[in-house]
Amino acid sequence: MNDNPKKKFIGTLPQKELLKLYSKHVNGPKVRFFKSLGLGVIPGEREGVKMRTLEGPRPGEPPLEMFNCRTSGGVYNLGHRNPRIIQMFKDALDGGLDIGDHILLSEQRALLGKKLADLMPGDISKTTFGVAGGEAIDCAIKFSRAYTKRKGCVSAIGGYHGHTGFALATGDPEFRDIFLWNLPGYNQIPFGDIDAMRKAVTDDIACVILETIPATAGLLIASEGYFPEVREICDEKGTMMIIDEVQAGLGRTGELWAIYGGLYPNEKVVPDFMVLGKGMTAGIYPLSTCSYKPFIEKAVYKDDPFIHISTTGGSDIGCAIALEMLNIQSDRKFLNHVKEMGKVFQKGLEEIKAEFPDLIKEVRGRGLMCGVEFHSETDSQLAMLSIIKEGVLLDYCNNKKDTLKILPPLIVQKPDLDGILAKIRIGVGKLKNIKK
Ligand SMILES: Cc1ncc(COP(=O)(O)O)c(C=O)c1O
Repeated sequence: MNDNPKKKFIGTLPQKELLKLYSKHVNGPKVRFFKSLGLGVIPGEREGVKMRTLEGPRPGEPPLEMFNCRTSGGVYNLGHRNPRIIQMFKDALDGGLDIGDHILLSEQRALLGKKLADLMPGDISKTTFGVAGGEAIDCAIKFSRAYTKRKGCVSAIGGYHGHTGFALATGDPEFRDIFLWNLPGYNQIPFGDIDAMRKAVTDDIACVILETIPATAGLLIASEGYFPEVREICDEKGTMMIIDEVQAGLGRTGELWAIYGGLYPNEKVVPDFMVLGKGMTAGIYPLSTCSYKPFIEKAVYKDDPFIHISTTGGSDIGCAIALEMLNIQSDRKFLNHVKEMGKVFQKGLEEIKAEFPDLIKEVRGRGLMCGVEFHSETDSQLAMLSIIKEGVLLDYCNNKKDTLKILPPLIVQKPDLDGILAKIRIGVGKLKNIKK
């Protein structure tokens, strides 16, 4: 027995051996992909805003130590292994909780449901729980179908809502075609184009589903007035409006909800559904939520309260942790910190853009949700690798590869942010030298 708990889980075998096991028993092409980028590494220790790999990418190289500005799309809003969250997890276990029984009623689900209702925009006050974001999106689409008795769905080209059933159907063909998944009545339109929206939302559309700031599509920022108009179109047509804040919600923009003041301070739109995942439990125990207006409940659950269930969705332990996360992240002081750091970060990124205008085309975002668009996909991908080597983990937007997505943990402090900006600047500068 190894007494050091960290050694029991991290670095149990040499990285090379683990890569072989991963390749053989999990996903070979993924290992080959990372190796081809010079990133054949396995994450090891992680704490706060930083993580390090078990070993370096090549024999003899030191492990990579990086600020985590990927945060797995907002999973690590509170950094890795946030002490308050870890304590809550331990307390929940010591206090007698396990995952509970999804068929029975639950004290923890009741308490988290109430907390979400208190914080949600408008009269969104009911919540159905899941494990992953895609599951919660599927739930929102299922419930929209049950309420409207329609099948159609409108989503954004390049948008991403998960890889499960209905969620997958809302996404780009590139992710659906090999699974022969093409649901009739599922239309994708350009994000931000209100005329296209008006045309697409016909009488057979059950729901419109949008991320407030589509992350995978390139951190796109809709013009002021877009979302209120989408709301109006949905109201006119009796169509459900689903807002996916799996990445943009929970304070990322400096407001708790991007759709309710985070995108534009004076724009407070109340959707019919609000879906959350990723950061719900600060990376400690999976939980997702589909919250909705009360009138929807009757259409779904009236005849059979068990019509939509999930064994591990809304686990008692997950709910207890999510409550603690919400206590932290809904605090005005916390949100003001995000706003302040967001200003520092965006200003710093603008300065880097001004220094390298032939590489960087645009910086955009809200709060600590930032996109840096390069003039070409090649430049952004080379910049990503160069910045990672400097010690900042980030990645590109999968459906707009010329744009780097930078999501620092929301707890980041000014000195670390300055360090991150300095490393990004050096990384981009090295790329400039390579191109000379
Ligand atoms: C905006 C958005 N919605 C939904 C999902 C799906 O979440 P999950 O991977 O937990 O199913 C993701 C995942 O990246 C996402 O970014």
